[in-house]
Amino acid sequence: MPEFDLLRALPKTKRNIATRRDGKDPSVVATAKQFGEMYIVSRFDLKPGMRVLDVGCAKGFLVKDLMIACPGLEAFGLDISPYALTHCEPATVGRLHLGTMEHLPFPDASFDAVLCINTVHNLDRQGCMRALQEMVRVVRDPAKCFVQVDAYRSEEEKALFESWCLTAETYLQPAEWVALFQQAGYSGDYYWTILQS
Ligand SMILES: C[S@@+](CC[C@H](N)C(=O)[O-])C[C@H]1O[C@@H](n2cnc3c(N)ncnc32)[C@H](O)[C@@H]1O
Repeated sequence: MPEFDLLRALPKTKRNIATRRDGKDPSVVATAKQFGEMYIVSRFDLKPGMRVLDVGCAKGFLVKDLMIACPGLEAFGLDISPYALTHCEPATVGRLHLGTMEHLPFPDASFDAVLCINTVHNLDRQGCMRALQEMVRVVRDPAKCFVQVDAYRSEEEKALFESWCLTAETYLQPAEWVALFQQAGYSGDYYWTILQS
């Protein structure tokens, strides 16, 4: 088998880690943490006993963190990767489902919140529509959804995506995503992953 550098097309990181380490102060860390699982718990007013689904959960890191942030929360995940699910966080055993976001194997209105981070864009445009519609179908309150997708605001950022992304099939400008959300009937929260050099 020849040597093959699968990641050779990826741009090298330009993050200045030394600057961040030297300037790291507690208030900055506190702000950063607000946007993690605690932020999700307060944003969606999650309480023990409520059911949350993480679509594209990979190894269940967020599922585990949500259960720590809100003890008693019933958090679940779904992913298409058997590898991820069989190497999942031990705390999530029995909570992660194998499947595709285009056909969520759950009844209508069976979750109190649904999240999908950096996953929807792995489908083509029709697939993205179906995945968003499925999120809306399985959540009780359509406002309690969050999706984060790949996006670009300039030709330079688009070119970065084209050289970086191995699996994304749909990456759009923010306004184009918003139009697609509306077309799918998705009215939840959203945010972008935007690559910058
Ligand atoms: C970039 S990872 C993001 C993982 C996690 N949400 C995070 O933010 O760290 C994308 C995940 O989506 C999963 N995925 C890709 N296509 C999928 C599909 N059609 N249905 C469900 N999961 C899918 C992949 O297996 C992978 O675990």
